[in-house]
Amino acid sequence: MKVDGLSTRTIAPLPGRDGVVIIDQTRLPFRYELRTLRGLADAAEAIAVMRVRGAPLIGATAAYGVALAMTEGADLDAACATLAATRPTAVNLAWALARMRARLAPLPAEARGAAAWAEAAAICDEDVELNRAIGRHGAGLIGALAEARPGPVNVLTHCNAGWLATVDWGTALAPVYAAFDAGLPVHVWVDETRPRNQGASLTAWELVQHGVPHTVIADNAGGHLMQHGKVDLCIVGSDRTAANGDVANKIGTYLKALAAHDNGVPFYVALPGPTIDWDLADGRAIPIEERRADEVTRITGENAAGELVSVRLTPAASPAANPAFDVTPARLVSGLVTERGVCPASRAGLLDLYPERRR
Ligand code: MRU
Repeated sequence: MKVDGLSTRTIAPLPGRDGVVIIDQTRLPFRYELRTLRGLADAAEAIAVMRVRGAPLIGATAAYGVALAMTEGADLDAACATLAATRPTAVNLAWALARMRARLAPLPAEARGAAAWAEAAAICDEDVELNRAIGRHGAGLIGALAEARPGPVNVLTHCNAGWLATVDWGTALAPVYAAFDAGLPVHVWVDETRPRNQGASLTAWELVQHGVPHTVIADNAGGHLMQHGKVDLCIVGSDRTAANGDVANKIGTYLKALAAHDNGVPFYVALPGPTIDWDLADGRAIPIEERRADEVTRITGENAAGELVSVRLTPAASPAANPAFDVTPARLVSGLVTERGVCPASRAGLLDLYPERRR
């Protein structure tokens, strides 16, 4: 994608394996700041405090975290354990670490550094291609709606599953970008996505960069818009999809799926293969991250002087809870948009696309 006219990815190694450059997403949309991760500890911190976030980008950053750790001469198992402990829900993290470990463990210590940097780069390159393919398949859904009647296709999305959440293109937003670039009329309803506002801060920023028409809405507006025929299609991302098509995604996704179901609005989930957890028969065992209460009790924004400020929203005496994800049952999902095509949200549907997983 492009920022200020320059092509960019969300993560890239420095020449000489000196570090890994990321976009510090905690500063957006106010400041576009790059940050260099110099070692394992920096990579783990960046994931934990969400300088990088979004399931595929968490996986990519973990892969580079292992590469940084190998350059530091760290122990492979200890490095993987440190990175695995950062965030629990996105399975792409465990997937990337398992892939790095499988590649590196058989090698002698002196060969692991070069192999780790090459494997992390391969994971990133593959992520870009997976997302590009998701975009192609998902744009077909938007195209079909555009043909059916005049006016823009109104797509509702939740959280940020755009290019900032991946290495490039995004998952849920890849179809929007592909459709927009192909000249299809598209408009995006952007859920603000409290408590961290990934929709209002990140999705809206991305859409501004790309010139895609969009409107930010309060999280609770989606049901009303659907009742009034103002949403043609919902597309969201996923942090972990169970083998039966149950989908974990940012908290609030389930409520949008319920509203879509009640109003006959198609509800699609876009995800790459590494987001499927084939070991989980259904979504009940997906670990749901509990984050700090102050993400709920406070909000960060920019004041008139351009300074970042955090203000309190709730009585100091009120406790708050902050489950960061929820699980949408497969029965509420119209289809899964993957790099291999669109399938029903079911075990049979997934196995048709990934026959190598039959056992
Ligand atoms: O807590 P976050 O910001 O990492 O959550 C991100 C999401 O929920 C995304 O929808 C998901 O990772 C899909 S990313 C392409």
